[in-house]
Amino acid sequence: MLTCSIIGATSFTGNELIRLLVRHPHVKIGSLTTRSEEKIDVREQVPSLGKASDLVIEKFNFQKVVRNSDVVFVTLPHTFAMKIAGDFYDEDKVVIDLSADFRLKRADLYEEWYQEKHTRKDLLKRTVYGLPEVYRGQIKQANLIANPGCYPTGSVLGLVPLIKNDLVKRDSIIIDAKSGVSGAGKKLSQATQFSEVDENFGAYKVNRHQHTPEIEQTLSDVALEKIDVTFVPHLLPVHRGILSTIYVRRKAGIKKDKLVKAFEAFSEQEPFVRFLGVGRFPTLRNVQYTNFCDIGIAMDNHSDQVIVITAIDNLLKGASGQAIQNMNIRLGFPEEAGLL
Ligand SMILES: NC(=O)c1ccc[n+]([C@@H]2O[C@H](COP(=O)([O-])OP(=O)(O)OC[C@H]3O[C@@H](n4cnc5c(N)ncnc54)[C@H](OP(=O)(O)O)[C@@H]3O)[C@@H](O)[C@H]2O)c1
Repeated sequence: MLTCSIIGATSFTGNELIRLLVRHPHVKIGSLTTRSEEKIDVREQVPSLGKASDLVIEKFNFQKVVRNSDVVFVTLPHTFAMKIAGDFYDEDKVVIDLSADFRLKRADLYEEWYQEKHTRKDLLKRTVYGLPEVYRGQIKQANLIANPGCYPTGSVLGLVPLIKNDLVKRDSIIIDAKSGVSGAGKKLSQATQFSEVDENFGAYKVNRHQHTPEIEQTLSDVALEKIDVTFVPHLLPVHRGILSTIYVRRKAGIKKDKLVKAFEAFSEQEPFVRFLGVGRFPTLRNVQYTNFCDIGIAMDNHSDQVIVITAIDNLLKGASGQAIQNMNIRLGFPEEAGLL
């Protein structure tokens, strides 16, 4: 059995990875690490493990993790992930980095949007962006997988069938996305404290959210030409889930049937995409605690406007579930292993 370790295991995404890995049929857990000097009983963080679990999270020790691991998941904040993910890649581990550090192919874009220097530019060309629905073939060969951001996953999956089949005007994309608070991680901030979020709702980082270039990079790859989008994120007063409403104009002469068929074909070939049809729309409740991306669409005969609505769990299809899916693809396990 192969062994997996998690660096930053106390994170929201680390906790979710533990929950999924303990019941994965083909791997076992090696090291779970923290910066803390104190050992942490995993049952305090992942209560569903129950009484029998003796897993502990302990202080990060690079050599110990190297000895203990075939696969290393990195769930650290961006910029801190860069060095550690690179160090394990240098030790020939399969590294799945959940941070943003290796997602953008262009270091200058990373430095512009994240306001940090990229110290492992040498690895950007060797990294594969871990969105299976677009890059499955490359993921099978990759030793460094940049797990996608949560907003980009929900947004891009709603657009891939339309762009791939050349059904829409590529300069007309508007994405209006709403995320639960766990998207911001465990660290405390004024914007995400209970009194700010509870019974409240608002947009933030309008047209300047760091996931914008990531969405554009993947859509441009699919389209084989540069695509720009308008992206407006909002903070929802719920714990988990992202609902994205996407507005795009269909090309002249493209009928409803063609749009529907494109989504049906996409959902038939993708194990974690569920197309609900025309006029049936996803909700957060139906995707929470699952690795699915649900998609519904609307359109009418009087205008060229197409509306696509997607829902994902930001901590699963938007993070840890997708990371397991990537591991399954890379290691040749059934893609759904440990995820259903
Ligand atoms: N939350 C989401 O929905 C989501 C979705 C997709 C991707 N991501 C990305 O996945 C990564 C983890 O996200 P998260 O939300 O799960 O994080 P989180 O809950 O905020 O936790 C991050 C963990 O990293 C460790 N850490 C914090 N600062 C550190 C530092 N300066 N140096 C080393 N370790 C540090 C902490 O562990 P200790 O204090 O125990 O050391 C902490 O538990 C981030 O890069 C995030 O952008 C998150």
